Amino acid sequence: MKPTVIGAWCTAIALAAGVAAHAQAQDPTYARSLAATCFTCHGTDGRSVGGIPPSLAGQDRNYLLQTMKDFKAGKRPATIMHQHAKGYTDEQLELIATYFANVKPGPSAAPAAPAMRGGY
Ligand code: HEC
Repeated sequence: MKPTVIGAWCTAIALAAGVAAHAQAQDPTYARSLAATCFTCHGTDGRSVGGIPPSLAGQDRNYLLQTMKDFKAGKRPATIMHQHAKGYTDEQLELIATYFANVKPGPSAAPAAPAMRGGY
């Protein structure tokens, strides 16, 4: 193969990878799977049981995003949210914030972690 042909192939592969990454960012199931990591504590779809920790469902997108960025930077006091926020890129935090902002607030469907709440 001539070097120019290899170069063309590399460009094609790089473009395809870029399109795939973009498609993933647009995929609503990807956003939900990121947000699902928060359900254990913040309740299914961010509707927490008894408001502890606070519900995320229907909160303002910018508030959620800024809060997560502040946790990530250690600017906002927290017990465990610092560690959690550090696990995500800013792009992923945007997807998570958008996801929760679009959920209708409401009663929790089921306690996410009954064992942690005295097992009722
Ligand atoms: C292990 C349990 C746990 C998980 C998992 C968790 N959180 Fe939290 N979250 C908390 C606790 C506890 C607080 C109160 C602050 C603190 O002590 O860290 C909190 C606070 C917050 C707050 C501030 C709410 C407010 O209005 O004061 C936001 C926003 C938040 N979490 C978002 C998230 C997001 C988004 C995820 C998933 C990426 C997540 N949390 C995962 C336990 C959790």
